Parts: sequence; structure tokens; C-alpha cells
Amino acid sequence: MAKIVGGIVTSHVPAIGRAIAGGLQEDAYWKPFFDGFPPVQKWLDEVKPDVAVVIYNDHGLNFFLDKMPTFSVGAAPAYQNADEGWGIPTLPSFPGDLDLSWHLIEALVEKEFDITTCQEMLVDHAFTLPMKLLWPKAGDNWPVRTVPVCINTVQHPLPSAKRCFKLGQAIGEAVRSWDADARVVIIGTGGLSHQLDGERAGFINKEFDLQFMDSLVTDPAWSTQYSIEDLVEKTGTQGIELLMWIAARASLGSVEQVKMLHSNYHIPISNTAAGLMVFENID
Ligand code: DHB
Ligand code: FE
Repeated sequence: MAKIVGGIVTSHVPAIGRAIAGGLQEDAYWKPFFDGFPPVQKWLDEVKPDVAVVIYNDHGLNFFLDKMPTFSVGAAPAYQNADEGWGIPTLPSFPGDLDLSWHLIEALVEKEFDITTCQEMLVDHAFTLPMKLLWPKAGDNWPVRTVPVCINTVQHPLPSAKRCFKLGQAIGEAVRSWDADARVVIIGTGGLSHQLDGERAGFINKEFDLQFMDSLVTDPAWSTQYSIEDLVEKTGTQGIELLMWIAARASLGSVEQVKMLHSNYHIPISNTAAGLMVFENID
């Protein structure tokens, strides 16, 4: 059976793509952010996952407001990146893992998650930039096959934190029941607090972010007490992307099954409080 080696949760901000393309990693503005990643890259070199399940949110590249699935899972042989604006160079396509995709889809539907299956799927900065941050030397050959899992955080109504936690638990169970000798890492991207629009544009809530990060270590279901409206109030209209962190952390299991290896938090990257955490699964 497949093994979950651990999970990584990180923010995704389009400006990171421009910084990577411009080689700005050592600039004073960017250094505290990029300095968070070498320990994660080293850990990935050690645990050598074969597949990454990437839980992210599309921002209008693959889904637009006319058709907006709540949960969707990729089932494509490869996932292309495409120009989504922001001036980010597009990255080489990502290989899929059809066997895990269909296993995951079947397991999730069996567990009463009504998902959209995507046999074609463009992936945006929320998928591509974390991949590039984790495997900066990958070039055209990504070292992992990928399965994108997309959660709607763009058009209300959004799935609740509680629902996303349950989705994560179901993803964890599905991956562990996959009949393959494969090592799987779960990645969650988005957040932490940020608001790009409206009167509160630029809103950041460090106190809540740090409490949330701590909860992923000590009490991963803590945030599920909050409604979407509560979470938007606490984290901003785009801070709600912490839903992906909740799902990714839930997939890894209980407090006893998981050890936190590394974390970083830096304000701001563009308009966003940038967080990073790495969890290893203990056998
Ligand atoms: C920014 C953050 C995001 O999560 C995003 O998807 C787009 C932009 C920002 O802070 O600029
Ligand atoms: Fe985003």
C-alpha cells in the first residue's frame, strides 16, 4: 500500500514567480521568505516522494465564475501551466498519476464527496509556484508525479472549514488504501491572512495566523469551529485560502501520527502573510 511520508503547507503569491524568474532570492525583501525553503528541499531529498497530491485553489485560469466546482480532482496524464497574467513565466507541464487520480476519485465519491473530475486541467500559480519553491532545480523534469485537488475559495458559497477537514481525512484514507508501492507527499497551498479587495485591502492578522499554525500541531481541527464568515473576518477575503491548509493537515492524521519539522512566517509578501510548515508522518 502507498505511504504518506508527510505534508507541506505554504502560501502562494504570484510575485514569488517574478522573484524566482528575476533571481531575487537574496534581496532583502525576499530573503526572509526564500530562506524558509532549503530545509524543506533537504527533507524532500531525504524522503524522496514519488507522488504529490497538491491541494490548491484555482483563481480563474481553469475554472471561471460561470462554472465553479466546490471540489475537483485532476485525472489527466499531465497538467499544463498557462499565462494567467501577473507577468509570471509559465512553468513546464507537470506529470500526472492517473492511477492515483482515479483511485482518489473513486474513494472520495464512495465517501459521499460530490467532486468534479477533470481529464484536462490547467494549473495556476497556486499549484506551480509551491512546486517550484519545493523543487527549484527541477527544470523540465519534475521529480514527482502529481494529482491536483482544487477547492473553491473564489466564489461563494465556499465549503466550510469542517467540510474541508473531512475532505482531507478522506484524501488521507484514500491515499493509504492505494495499492501501489509509492511514497506520497500532501501539499496544501494558500493563505495565510490576506485581503486583496475592498475597504480592508491589505488586511493581515498575525495573531490569528500564528494561532492557526500552532493549532495544526496541537489541535488540527481547532479552526473547524469557525464559519466561513468568521474566517473571512479573521483572515481576509483571500485569507480563506487557509482551507487548503486545513484539508492538507487533516489528510496526515492525528497529533500522534505527525511531527512538525519546520515552519516559517513572514509578513508581507506582496499583500500576504506568507506561512510555511512541514510535517512528517511517524510510522
Ligand atoms: C496575492 C496573493 C494570492 O494568494 C493570490 O492568489 C494573488 C495575489 C498577493 O498578495 O499579491
Ligand atoms: Fe491565492
